[in-house]
Amino acid sequence: MNTNQMKKISVIGAGAMGSQIAMVCALAGYHVCLQDVSEESLGKAKQSLEGHMKRRIDKGKLSSEQVDDAFSRLELVTSLEEAVNDTDFVIEAIVEKLEAKRELFAAVDKLAPAHTIIASNSSTIVSSKIADATERPDKVCNMHFFNPALVMELVEVVQGPHTSEETAQLTMELTRSINKTPVLLKKEISGFVANRILGKLMDEAIYLLENGIATPEEIDLACTKALNHPIGPFALIDLTGIDVHYYVRMQRYEETGESSAKPSKTVTELFEKGELGRKTGKGFYTYS
Ligand SMILES: NC(=O)c1ccc[n+]([C@@H]2O[C@H](COP(=O)([O-])OP(=O)(O)OC[C@H]3O[C@@H](n4cnc5c(N)ncnc54)[C@H](O)[C@@H]3O)[C@@H](O)[C@H]2O)c1
Repeated sequence: MNTNQMKKISVIGAGAMGSQIAMVCALAGYHVCLQDVSEESLGKAKQSLEGHMKRRIDKGKLSSEQVDDAFSRLELVTSLEEAVNDTDFVIEAIVEKLEAKRELFAAVDKLAPAHTIIASNSSTIVSSKIADATERPDKVCNMHFFNPALVMELVEVVQGPHTSEETAQLTMELTRSINKTPVLLKKEISGFVANRILGKLMDEAIYLLENGIATPEEIDLACTKALNHPIGPFALIDLTGIDVHYYVRMQRYEETGESSAKPSKTVTELFEKGELGRKTGKGFYTYS
C-alpha cells in the first residue's frame, strides 16, 4: 500500500494531541475519523478546532473553503468499531498509561482490517511494549507528534525490532503527505530524541526553582531572551499539561526504577491539586 491508496485515517483520543493530529490529516486531504470514549472530549475538540481554524482564516493562512472541506472530511465518533472497521491507518493518542494503550491496541487489532497500521503517539512508551497485545506486531510503531500538532513540524517515527520496514516506510510517507517532517529512529529508547533533550532542560529549570534561585517567570525569560527558545520551560509544561508531564515521569520511573526519574515535588503538588496548566486555567501561571 502507499498513501495514495489510503482512504481513511483514524485517530483515537480527541484530547490536546488527537484533535489536532486529526485536523492536520483532514487538512491534507484524508478522510479522518476521530474517536474518543468521552462525548465531552469530542465536543471540546470540535470547539477548539473551530477556534483554531477561524484564527487561521482571519490571518489569511487558510481559506474558508479549505477549512470547510477539511471539516467535511472529519468525522467525530464514540464507537471504536465505527472508527476503525474500514480504516487504513490508526494513530493512537489516548491517555499516557501503558495498560490503557495495550487494551486499546488489542481492541483495534480485532476490529481493523488486516492491512491497517496501528501507530502510537505516546511521548515515552516504545511500541515494543504494546505490539504483543496485537496479532500484527509488524504493523505497530511509534509516530510521535509534538504539541501543538497543528504547528509543530517534526514527527518522530520509531521502528521497533518488531516493526516491518514496510510499516516504517509507509509511516514516513504518511508523515510527509500531511506536510510534516519525519525522522526515522531505528532503535527504540523511552522518550525518543527531542523530549529526552528537553527533559534535561526541564530538570535544571525545576532544580533552579525548587532551590529558590529563580522564579518560573525569570527562568522562562532566561530561556527565551538568552537562549532564544521560542517558549520557556514552565510556559511549555503549562501548555503540554502538568498531568502529561507527571505521567511521562512516572512512566519513566516505573521503567527504570531510578528515583531521579520521578516527577518533581513541585509538579506532583500541582498535579494533585488539579492545576494542570492551560487546560485548567492554572499551572505555573494563571490563565484567563
Ligand atoms: N500533550 C502533549 O504535549 C503531548 C505531545 C506528544 C505526545 N503526547 C502523547 O499523546 C497522548 C495523548 O496526550 P494528550 O495530551 O492529547 O492527552 P489528553 O488528556 O488531552 O487526551 C486524551 C484523550 O484520550 C481519551 N481516551 C482515554 N482513554 C481512551 C480510550 N480507551 N479510547 C478512546 N479515547 C480515550 C480521553 O477521553 C481524552 O480525551 C499521550 O500518549 C501523550 O504521551 C502528548
